[in-house]
Amino acid sequence: MAKIIKNGTIVTAADHYKADLLINDGIIQAIGMNLQAEAAEVIDAEGCFVFPGGVDPHTHLDMPFGGTITADDYETGTIAAAFGGTTTVIDFCLTNKGLPLCSSIQTWHAKAQGKAVIDYSFHLMIGEVNNAVLTELPQIIAEEGITSLKVFMAYKNVLQADDGTLYRTLLMAKEQGALVMVHAENGDVIDYLIAQALAEGNTDPIFHARTRPSVLEGEATGRAAKLSALADSQLYVVHVTCAEAVQQIADSRNQGHEIWGETCPQYLLLDETYLQRPDFEGAKYVWSPPLREAWHQEVLWNALKNGQLQTVGSDQCSFNFKGQKELGRGDFSKIPNGGPIIEDRFSLIYSEGVTKGRLSLNQFVDVIATRAAKLFGLFPQKGTIAVGSDADLVIFDPAAERVISAATHHMNVDYNPFEGMRVTGEPVSVLSRGEFVIRDKQFVGSAGSGRYLKRKKYKSDL
Ligand code: URP
Ligand code: ZN
Ligand code: ZN
Ligand code: ZN
Repeated sequence: MAKIIKNGTIVTAADHYKADLLINDGIIQAIGMNLQAEAAEVIDAEGCFVFPGGVDPHTHLDMPFGGTITADDYETGTIAAAFGGTTTVIDFCLTNKGLPLCSSIQTWHAKAQGKAVIDYSFHLMIGEVNNAVLTELPQIIAEEGITSLKVFMAYKNVLQADDGTLYRTLLMAKEQGALVMVHAENGDVIDYLIAQALAEGNTDPIFHARTRPSVLEGEATGRAAKLSALADSQLYVVHVTCAEAVQQIADSRNQGHEIWGETCPQYLLLDETYLQRPDFEGAKYVWSPPLREAWHQEVLWNALKNGQLQTVGSDQCSFNFKGQKELGRGDFSKIPNGGPIIEDRFSLIYSEGVTKGRLSLNQFVDVIATRAAKLFGLFPQKGTIAVGSDADLVIFDPAAERVISAATHHMNVDYNPFEGMRVTGEPVSVLSRGEFVIRDKQFVGSAGSGRYLKRKKYKSDL
């Protein structure tokens, strides 16, 4: 049935204005004043913003990591995402050396099948480049529509690739129209610093941060940027945490290279003192790269505002405190890395960004939805409100106030890193391709209704 959303203020990355939206067949059919359509359901959005559904370019759902598996799968993770105003996720498909890439992609399809409640796509991890990979990749880009490749420069002996692999991936990406993503930390040096800390009996969570200093993120970011420039390729740096990395990205952009940077709410809002919380609670705040000294936060906000960084991902990678984070008691290097952010990413950036004057409304939409859709080949199907775009919409009450808590969140995990934080603004209803997933703050979607998205090739003229 057709729907008309009335009286809301539509906000895109470019403008904001009061208008009605007519939705049918999952698509935005018309935008205008006083729209009418026979037998259409009318939804009143008076006093609300109507945003494009959030696009989260960085999630790890149902992912094995650190000897365990993330607490949120495609069902709980995408339900939580929808509650928070996100309608598209791009998840990381991990691969194994020696196995065909397509077998890993099939594994990831099976994780999502019958579970996702919003649309989703995959980035593909590249751990080695050999003849098999070179033969398979063009087919994967064409048939699966996977146009982004992830290289880990950290997690030695697990996920880490060497510089030769990164360079060859950049060359492949250039040729095939894909975007290379890097986790930029110097894994070799970190591996040494961890061994040294443990040998000295320094086992508490804070040593996770001390053994991954920001200079090693800056170094790896600069190295990746230079290799990308040498290959005349394109690079996206995930989860940027610090001034050193921002500086490398800015320098490379100033030299005319195509390099993009993402940060995450945790780096914008939390700092390394959280790792010192008593009773091993610091383990809840273990991410890689780690939380930094608080002064880096202003650098990150400014970089988002002035365009040196372009996106905010969640890096959703949830592990329960009980039974999972606890694996690292007595050895910080065994704490599974990551946290639950998929649900609160949108609200946190609205509340701390827009209401505190750090981002304009349009910049908010850009960093939370539009830019990721553009960079990852989903625009204008996703990431904006326009005639012909998917009707992925968030009806958002900017006056609502809410306190974040594990007691009320929808992620399948026993803590929230933002516990007790008050946020202004809340999604009231969320639609995916014209159907309510969240209606008046209640879940009304269904597992398996989310569709796999084949993405377009990377294009530089964004
Ligand atoms: O600590 C993190 N970031 N966990 C997820 C894996 C990754 O490196 O993105
Ligand atoms: Zn205005
Ligand atoms: Zn990472
Ligand atoms: Zn990640």
